[in-house]
Formats: sequence, structure tokens, C-alpha cells
Amino acid sequence: MGTSKCLWLSVLVLSFCGSMVASRVLNEISMTERHEQWMAEHGRTYKDASEKQLRFEIFKHNVELIESFNAEDHKFKLGANRFADLTNEEFRAMYNGFKPSSTNNGIGTKNTFKYENFTAVPASMDWRTKGAVTPVKDQGQCGCCWAFSAVAAMEGVTKLSIGKLISLSEQEVVDCDVHGEDQGCNGGLMDDAFKFIIKNGGLTTETNYPYTATDGTCNTKKAASHSADIKGFEDVPANSEAALLKAVANQPISVAIDAGGFAFQLYSGGVFTGDCGTDLDHGVTAVGYGTDTDGTKYWLVKNSWGQSWGENGYIRMERDVDAKQGLCGIAMQASYPTA
Ligand SMILES: *[C@@H]1O[C@H](CO)[C@@H](O)[C@H](O)[C@H]1NC(C)=O
Repeated sequence: MGTSKCLWLSVLVLSFCGSMVASRVLNEISMTERHEQWMAEHGRTYKDASEKQLRFEIFKHNVELIESFNAEDHKFKLGANRFADLTNEEFRAMYNGFKPSSTNNGIGTKNTFKYENFTAVPASMDWRTKGAVTPVKDQGQCGCCWAFSAVAAMEGVTKLSIGKLISLSEQEVVDCDVHGEDQGCNGGLMDDAFKFIIKNGGLTTETNYPYTATDGTCNTKKAASHSADIKGFEDVPANSEAALLKAVANQPISVAIDAGGFAFQLYSGGVFTGDCGTDLDHGVTAVGYGTDTDGTKYWLVKNSWGQSWGENGYIRMERDVDAKQGLCGIAMQASYPTA
């Protein structure tokens, strides 16, 4: 108590003594230091001084937005994470590679939803605690979120069917699934990834066919070595968080979301409540759900932007919102593989 009061007092005295100009300069210096610190923390380097200056200006702008956002009353916080020196336009262009299906869920295809009549839905679920979720991965600067989303759902159903958690190869999907709308780092669809995996007869391990974050040539020898397989896939009935709940109660589920917003880019923790629309541009995996201490219901979502983003690589997104599409469209195009 005593110490913090003293600190507070000396800050007050300092700010009374300094002129506006001096504090402005101090502020710039500390922002420069913060940028340097952030660069060191995230291993970021720039090609020359002008690139550094440009990145500094964007960083500064973002930090100011973060601080004013965090000073307001929100259920989640923003932070200067790995995307803090990118404009929102750059972030969208680099990291979001989900291509929404032109045909809506289930329409035109014979779709069954095996959890339709499932009623024993627990109050909360966290598939990590059941050993059905591999550590958070990092897609790097490659728009193949769709492959990470599909593979995470497959890792989950594999654990539930054969009892083993095996980290599977996204790179195999990126390199070898060159059909339909799937275009490696340029985007794709989880359902098309499932179709590829079924046709391929399974997937090999992450270790055998490691991730490179680039579009490569399919290594057919490695792709022919299967460590896990799936029998089929099903779409969760669209625009129903109730249906999504039944599904996530049973296994990790691939979901598409609108992750293009500034708040999503710089999310650092808490229950995310938006802003976001329903322009689906990112594939992630719902690996649980629950209710926060203040009563806000959330989906537990595994992302593929490394462990430093969000809550150790995860985001909790508000659940049971007014819109039938769910927050950021999470209930619009959900699907899962069957074992
Ligand atoms: C759900 O129950 C209805 C009514 O009994 C039945 O017609 C339907 O096939 C069931 N759905 C599934 C996926 O088992």
C-alpha cells in the first residue's frame, strides 16, 4: 500500500514539474524504447532506417489505440503482441486465409449431423484437459489457417477414437491438397481439407512432414505414410450456436470466423466481445466452452498464431450472442471429421 502511494505521488509531482513539451519528448523516448524492447521480444528486424521509422509510427499508433481501449470498460484487453507493428490492412492481407464456401453448409449435399439428438451437454468443456489438443502451432506468414483448423480437429478426433494424441502435418495438406478451392498459403477451406485427407487415406505426423510456412511441392513418399485417418466429415447445421454446442461437447470442431478486425489483431486476453462482422476470413478450432466469473459465456478457441498471441495462443470468444451467426460468424461454417 505505502509503496504504491509513494510512487503515485512522485509521478504526480513529476508531471506538475515538467512542461508539456518535455513530457512529449519523454513520451517519444519511452515509445522508442518500447518499440526496441518489443522488437527484441519478437525477434523483429527491419531492412533499413526508413522501414524502422515507418514501423515505429505504426507501432506508436497501435500502442495508443491499445492504451485508450484498455482504459475503457471491456471484457477483454488488447496488447502490443507480434502484430503490433502492422496496420490492420497488412494484418488482414497476411494472416487470414479462409475462403468462405460459395455453397452454404449442407445445402446441395446430403449432410447428417450425428450430434443432432445429443442432450447430455456438460456446463463446460475443455478438450485440452482431456489430452485431445496439441500445443498451439504457428502458421507464420502463410494464409493456410484452414489447414491448421482442419488438422487440429483431426488430431482431436484421433485422440478420441484411438486414444493417442498425434501432432499431424499441416504442410502435407498445404503441399498436396491442390484441388478445388484449396490453394496452400493463398487460402482454402476446412471441408476441402477433410476431403483431401479422406482421399489421401490419412495424414502423416508433423515430425515426418514438418511445417515450412511456404507452398511446396508435394512429397508423395511422406504423404503416403499415414499415422492417422478419418472416415468422413460433417457440417454442423449453420447459424445455430445450440447445434455448435452439441458438437463441441463431443469433439474439437473446425470453425470459420471474421478475424480481420483491429481488436482481434491485438487481442491479449479476456472474453472477446467484438467488434467483428461475419465476413469469414479465418479458420480456427473450437476446443471447448465455458462461462466466465462474471457470467459471460464463451467459446474456447485454438488459434494458429503461436503461443504469444492472446491467452497462450487461445482466444475466448463470447458465446450465445443475439445474432444467429454467433460472434464473428463462429456458427456459420462449422464442421468436423469423423473417425
Ligand atoms: C434424431 O431423432 C430423430 C427422431 O427420433 C430421428 O429421426 C433422427 O434420425 C435422429 N438423428 C440422428 C442424427 O440420430
